[in-house]
Amino acid sequence: MCVTPAVIKDTGYGEGIKTHRYLDRWEDCPGLNAVIRAVTKSAMNGGLEVVGIEDGYLGLIENRFRPLSNTDVSDILTRGGTILGACNKADPAAYAVRQGDKWVQKDVRDQVIEHCRQGELDALVVIGGDGTMSGAADLIARGLKIVGVPKTIDNDLYGTEITFGHNTAVSTAAEALDRIHTTASSHHRVMVVELMGRYAGWIALNAGIASGADVILIPEIPFDINVVAEKCTQRSRFGKRFTIIAVAEGAAPKGGEQFVDSIDETSPDPIRLGGVGKFVADKVGEISGIESRAIVLGHIQRGGTPTPSDRLLATRFGYHAYELLEAGRFNRLAVIQNGHTGSIEISQVAGKIRTVPPDDRMIRAAKAIGTSFGDC
Ligand code: F6P
Repeated sequence: MCVTPAVIKDTGYGEGIKTHRYLDRWEDCPGLNAVIRAVTKSAMNGGLEVVGIEDGYLGLIENRFRPLSNTDVSDILTRGGTILGACNKADPAAYAVRQGDKWVQKDVRDQVIEHCRQGELDALVVIGGDGTMSGAADLIARGLKIVGVPKTIDNDLYGTEITFGHNTAVSTAAEALDRIHTTASSHHRVMVVELMGRYAGWIALNAGIASGADVILIPEIPFDINVVAEKCTQRSRFGKRFTIIAVAEGAAPKGGEQFVDSIDETSPDPIRLGGVGKFVADKVGEISGIESRAIVLGHIQRGGTPTPSDRLLATRFGYHAYELLEAGRFNRLAVIQNGHTGSIEISQVAGKIRTVPPDDRMIRAAKAIGTSFGDC
């Protein structure tokens, strides 16, 4: 788990808030700098002092804080990544340390609390997904005051209908699917594009629909490989001699398991998914006889400049985080529900993820226009 924190010290203008920090869950995400900018500028203009914590929760564990000034957060709105750094291996409740030839997990939560006390941090702003919010809930229970901002390209955070970073990832994934059309149609191939999203299919669903993928495979709807192959064959029969398949990394065949690429035992979330795209391409090629290829888009989806939509969302969330701090409404996560900005208790979110409902309106729309989800 990792953190990209900031601390706000009360300089006499703000009421009640002295300090807070950002925790950025596991990894970088487009729009993260835009949130850091929005919170820092709002807080500083409201009379607070802001301190950035480097590399997320790792910086809290290692006591690495630095004051943030207007100059630090100037000119970062459009920049991807995070000026404070990120780390996906630092869960204070289970921090992996090397002992001889193996990794052991240590509980360093008391150390984190002590560092916050030494740094006179009055409150923290944590920016992250379910992992960060679970970590935050843990620290809240130990007395820290925290405000959360929902961040993840996967869009799988419980309690909010959108997280920042998702729109950028979908744009990148849709562009990749659009571009793959050229080779697919010229060479009469089946092209499978494996997309990120962990255990939720939002990226594949939204990018797939946006780029007119013929087949979309997501974790929420187990697929039958024969149905997928039949869709490709049928398209050939009707003169469409190519098929584009968008597959989420967490998708799995009916009765089968998700594909695991690797295990990172130093990470609080050790499973790295991957491999389903190649499985689908190999099997479809075998069953249909049509040349089939797979590509994995990977971390490209997390990189680059945030879209204007993500910049707006990040600014909206960052400002609301400041409003919550200013109002002394701690231990809440900024969310968007029914298009409105609001907040919910962080404890409500911890340990949960938001997956795609199988009867989602966009799934129904896609099915109505002939997109296959590999289920029937
Ligand atoms: O949660 C964001 C995400 O990019 C997932 O979509 C993906 O499964 C995972 O992180 C990859 O993690 P890492 O960068 O540690 O390989």
